[in-house]
Amino acid sequence: MTFGHKNVIVTGGLGFIGSNLAIRLVELGARVTIVDSMVEGCGSNPYNIAPIADRVEVLECSIGDTAQLTAVLRSCDLVFNLAGEVSHSHSMLFPERDLEINTLAQLRFVQACAEHNPGVRILYAGTRQVYGVPAYLPVDEKHPVNPVDFNGVHKYAATQYHLMLSRTGHVDAVVIRLTNVYGPRMAINIPCQGFLSTFVRMSLTKQRLDIFGHGQQLRDPAYIDDVVAAMILVAAEPKLRSRSYNVGGPEALSLAEIARESAWAAGAPDPVFREFPADRKAIDIGSYHTDSGLIANQLGWNPQIRYAEGFARTLAYYEKAMPQYLNPNDPNPACNLLHCTKSKLAPPEPVAR
Ligand SMILES: NC(=O)c1ccc[n+]([C@@H]2O[C@H](COP(=O)([O-])OP(=O)(O)OC[C@H]3O[C@@H](n4cnc5c(N)ncnc54)[C@H](O)[C@@H]3O)[C@@H](O)[C@H]2O)c1
Repeated sequence: MTFGHKNVIVTGGLGFIGSNLAIRLVELGARVTIVDSMVEGCGSNPYNIAPIADRVEVLECSIGDTAQLTAVLRSCDLVFNLAGEVSHSHSMLFPERDLEINTLAQLRFVQACAEHNPGVRILYAGTRQVYGVPAYLPVDEKHPVNPVDFNGVHKYAATQYHLMLSRTGHVDAVVIRLTNVYGPRMAINIPCQGFLSTFVRMSLTKQRLDIFGHGQQLRDPAYIDDVVAAMILVAAEPKLRSRSYNVGGPEALSLAEIARESAWAAGAPDPVFREFPADRKAIDIGSYHTDSGLIANQLGWNPQIRYAEGFARTLAYYEKAMPQYLNPNDPNPACNLLHCTKSKLAPPEPVAR
């Protein structure tokens, strides 16, 4: 599929990944409609789409509010469904909020796609969090699903809605399961969005990074441009109905290495090791890195941008744009979701592994 004059929906398009994707799609000639309800606590930021603001339509509504989406769904050629909440910690604190965002709204949306545009191609942004604590490394698509938090459970349910309605011919869905993604336009102002967002915020504001535990846990950060390229490749390949691909970064690095690299690049103080907070430890998955071999072999996608390069590009973006994301007088904003229905669970105890 070429994108010239195609009507493309990007849900979550005011957020980190969705905005970068929308910018690339506009460059490729697509007519993009963004659907984003600017959910408090997620990464929406109208500034994210500044380079294309006059060339996209933005519908500020929830993907679960399907009555408002009938017309745009009927006329679309392709859907990138990226609306969602990434925070694992938020999901444990506010599980019903996560259920609403990552599951109920998704169920309504994918059914509406099937009703108003039967057979439409949808790319759904899944997560490596569904795998839980890896039984082996690197993690391929055959790895068992054992999430350790509500985010993983809810994202898995949404993945299955897409795949089930695809296998039964109602839509034509494909899924990519993303590792930790970083780069320009991530929400560095929101706590609990993952360690990469925290590392960028703390490094930029010259604060000392904390490494929880021994810091030897592996991660494979994926730079946003690589991820956008993978999404476009998978979405544009017509013969892939109901497939899922793992999408990871080019190198497995320890958290200590990632922290040191980040601090060094930004001129921030050397990181320090701290005891794992109990709530974080309980949902920590230990080491993870992705086996991206399936997408490499079938579609020729390989991640290109190593962390040192990607982090330098990220810093360069925020050095200019930081005031659009973070108040320098308040470099560690607190969580603003405390009015949400909180879990009745006691803070989880660390699990022995
Ligand atoms: N960032 C990562 O490292 C990562 C890793 C794995 C998976 N993912 C997935 O990729 C997708 C995008 O993540 P991101 O990092 O860009 O997050 P983000 O928080 O920056 O963006 C998500 C956007 O979705 C919007 N949104 C949420 N619920 C909505 C709803 N019901 N209707 C309309 N809009 C809604 C939010 O307002 C926000 O703008 C998510 O589905 C996430 O689970 C991200």
